[in-house]
Amino acid sequence: MNAAVLHALNKPPRFDEFPDPSVKDDEVIVHVRAAALKPVDKQIASGSHYASPSKLPVVCGIDGVGCLEDETRVYFGGPRSPYGAMAERTVMSRQRCFPLPEEIDDLTAAAVLNPGVSAWLTLAERAKVMQGETVLILGATGVTGKLAVQAAKLLGAARVVAAGRNEQVLNKLRDLGADAIIRFDKPGQSLKDAFVHEAGDSGFDVIIDYVWGSPTEALLAALTRKEFAAAKSDIRLVQVGESAGATISLPAAVLRSTPLTIMGTAGIPPMDKLMDAFQQVMTRTACGELRIDVERVPLDEVENAWQRDGHGRRIVLVP
Ligand SMILES: NC(=O)c1ccc[n+]([C@@H]2O[C@H](COP(=O)([O-])OP(=O)(O)OC[C@H]3O[C@@H](n4cnc5c(N)ncnc54)[C@H](OP(=O)(O)O)[C@@H]3O)[C@@H](O)[C@H]2O)c1
Repeated sequence: MNAAVLHALNKPPRFDEFPDPSVKDDEVIVHVRAAALKPVDKQIASGSHYASPSKLPVVCGIDGVGCLEDETRVYFGGPRSPYGAMAERTVMSRQRCFPLPEEIDDLTAAAVLNPGVSAWLTLAERAKVMQGETVLILGATGVTGKLAVQAAKLLGAARVVAAGRNEQVLNKLRDLGADAIIRFDKPGQSLKDAFVHEAGDSGFDVIIDYVWGSPTEALLAALTRKEFAAAKSDIRLVQVGESAGATISLPAAVLRSTPLTIMGTAGIPPMDKLMDAFQQVMTRTACGELRIDVERVPLDEVENAWQRDGHGRRIVLVP
């Protein structure tokens, strides 16, 4: 079969022949119809991710949309290595195949489910965002950040501040529900001052961070109080991505002067929470409440697609 085959870590995969999978135990063959190209697929292939392969070659792609032998259309996640989603066929545990409703097409489902479920769970389950709160999204111009802006509003946030780098994409975020915009690299503006300005007197309640690195350091400087003051309400910062850097310098003063809690996404949540988020994202995407920009790319162009930026659009490979 044809597949996106990774022959060496830290190189793009090639469109190549790969042996067909066969099933064991409770597994099923999935005839793939669409597989999104996400940052995590690139991180795994680069060798920098904890799930990076120790043996090569492998097929790339951790999730997608396809049909089972009985024609059931499913979203699937976690194919058995060395098989992957970016192929004509893959092999999956039956428990990790979830039937899809007719209202959502292959490309949209393949694009939205991974970042949408992640954004929904981060806001609803980790940050526990509440009605009327103010939410800051760091890295709001990415596919997941754009979904987080929309999800925050759907979950009841009164004010969503979207921060990011790409000016063109930032300018469109008001259409998705952002109430204010912060540009990371606006000439003549200190990023720290921009965060202070948008925090206002009541501050941020929730911060969802897809970037880490220097923008997060500027934010932490903005949150650090300069005087002894009564604590305001808790600030919950959820660390999700590291587009701008893998590490930060964390001054102790920010944790002592403000009621700030920094947490991560904490791995895969229990199945009931995961299924609830899955249903929310599918239903809300099907009715237009959650929007995502998708670019369809034939699988034989994977090598080129791997090396370009989607600029807020999710590239979806089609075998
Ligand atoms: N743990 C999870 O569950 C989970 C789920 C989804 C995503 N993530 C992580 O979250 C991050 C974003 O994911 P995504 O789906 O939104 O990716 P994406 O669509 O590829 O977008 C990448 C984002 O990172 C920004 N960025 C890249 N380099 C930057 C830099 N040097 N400084 C500042 N911003 C920079 C981009 O800004 P521009 O628009 O200006 O290029 C864009 O907002 C990735 O690290 C991803 O692995 C984690």
